[in-house]
Parts: sequence; structure tokens; C-alpha cells
Amino acid sequence: MGSGIAQVSARAGFKTITLEVNDQFLQKGLGRIDKFLSDGVAKGKVTAEDREKTLANLTGTTGYADLRDCDLVIEAIVESVDAKKQAYAQVETHVGPNCLIASNTSSLCVTELAAATRRPDKVGGLHFFNPVPLMKLVEVIRALTTSDETHRTLYEFAKAVGKEPITAPDRGGFIVNRLLVPYLLDAIRCLEDGVGSVEDIDKGMKLGCGYPMGPFTLLDFVGLDTTYFIANILFDEFRETRFAPPPLLKRMVLAGHLGKKSGKGFYDYAGK
Ligand code: 3HC
Repeated sequence: MGSGIAQVSARAGFKTITLEVNDQFLQKGLGRIDKFLSDGVAKGKVTAEDREKTLANLTGTTGYADLRDCDLVIEAIVESVDAKKQAYAQVETHVGPNCLIASNTSSLCVTELAAATRRPDKVGGLHFFNPVPLMKLVEVIRALTTSDETHRTLYEFAKAVGKEPITAPDRGGFIVNRLLVPYLLDAIRCLEDGVGSVEDIDKGMKLGCGYPMGPFTLLDFVGLDTTYFIANILFDEFRETRFAPPPLLKRMVLAGHLGKKSGKGFYDYAGK
């Protein structure tokens, strides 16, 4: 999601630096942005000038020292508390005292992340949705320690990058995943119970409720490993069975059937 966030930030006119762990990932992310903008030009959704301006606002790096002049760092790394704490320690070594840090975490406790820094009042959540350039929503998460000023700035930033922000509390799943994840898990339980086929359940929710994607298409799109991870976090937080990952989900993850990214999930993407 990092490249999508960098793209909307640069497109809104902010000087944006993307930091990646190595040059290969960096080039991949920048390439994804370039492709989206070029496709947008071809579709008549993005002007050539807009594309050039966006790319001109973007630079990439693999060194934390290049973040030194940032006013806001948005972290969108792997969903591991330890990895995020280590990243924040690196960020804080280089940025100024007023720099804000926002996590794009979908389910981890933002208060815990904030508490790991020397600026817990300047840390909050900015939860974007996939695909970031197309989805309008951003959840702005207030940790227990987030100051009013930090919250206001993050909220205004979300608006400035063309999104519709909503404020969400620092509770597992925030607003959207607290509702979305049990729905996706229920779809899997329906499949396990023989209520319908993958295709019919998807068709039912698409055509019967007007959802842009059926639950299995969405599960494959989000990633089965990601959904499994979020479900476990929500189950740990609330201890309610509706958040418990169904056995089939666990087995699909163990088998490496992670959805679109692995070429196989509830659907087969071989050759697509
Ligand atoms: N540049 C600019 N615009 C583009 C573009 C590009 N490269 N590519 C597509 N677009 C535009 C299209 O022109 C179209 O615009 P229009 O509505 O004005 O005609 C719009 O974007 C939609 O594009 P498409 O027609 O190509 O694609 P679809 O209509 O199939 O929509 C989708 C794709 C937006 C992904 C839609 O299927 C959707 O909304 N799916 C649901 C996604 C969802 O639920 N995401 C949330 C996942 S949960 C999450 O992220 C949280 C995490 O914590 C797990």
C-alpha cells in the first residue's frame, strides 16, 4: 500500500520520499506508481501534466537519513509490532522533534506503537484502503496519547490528498475492518457449510447488495494471509467467535493459497 500512499501524496503536491528496504522493492514500488499514472493517462483520467507533476514530487531512498526534513512519516511496513517499533526508532534518529508519525496499520494497537516512540502525542493512524489511489476513505486513528493538534493535522492531510477521512478509535479493526472482517469470515463459513459455491456467494452479494466485489473476490484481493492475521488480532482483542478465523482460511494460508498475489486463492489466477 506504501506506493499508493506515496502516489496520492505526491499527486496532491506534497514533496514525497518513499523509503524501501532495498533497491529492488523501491524500483518495484516506483514502477507501480508510474504504471498507474500512465494507465490513467491512457484512460483519460489523469492528464499528462498531472503525471509529470506527480512524478516530479516523488523520490525514493533506502536510507532513513533521507527522511530528515519530513514533517510527516507514514509507515506502511509489515504488520509486526517489533518491526514497526524498530522502524520508528530509526525514523526518530533522523527526523526533527515536530515530525508526526502515522501508521497505516489495519489492526495493530496504535497506542502501543505510539508508546514505543519518544513522541506519543505526535503519533496516530492513517488507515488507507486498497487500491489506495481509487478508494476514497481514510480512517484517522486516535491513540490514547494522540494530541488534538496531531489528530487535526492527520485529518487535514487525509483531506489534502483527496480522501474522505473518518475518525476511528484505537480499537481492533477500527471501524471498517471491525465490520468487514466478520463478513468475510462468515462468507468462508457459508462455503464450509455448503450454503453456496464461491461463485454463487460472490454473485449473491454483488448483484443482491450492489457490492463492487463479492466476498471471495475481495478476500483474494486483500490477501488471505492478511485477513487471517487481522482476524487473529481481532479475536485476541475481543474474544468473540465472530472474529475467529475459520479452519478453511487457516489451511489455505498454510498451503500458500494467499489470493491474487500468490496466483491462487478462492479463484485461480494462473496466467492472468
Ligand atoms: N488512473 C486513474 N483512474 C483510474 C485508473 C488509473 N490508472 N484505473 C482505474 N481508474 C478509475 C476508472 O476509470 C474508474 O473511474 P469511473 O468510476 O469514474 O469510471 C474507477 O477508477 C474504477 O476503475 P475500473 O472501472 O477499472 O475498476 P472497477 O470498476 O472494477 O473498480 C475497484 C475497481 C475500485 C477496486 C472496485 O472493484 C472496488 O471498489 N472494490 C472493492 C475494494 C475494497 O473493498 N477495498 C477495500 C479492501 S479492505 C482494505 O483495504 C483494508 C485493509 O486493512 C485490509
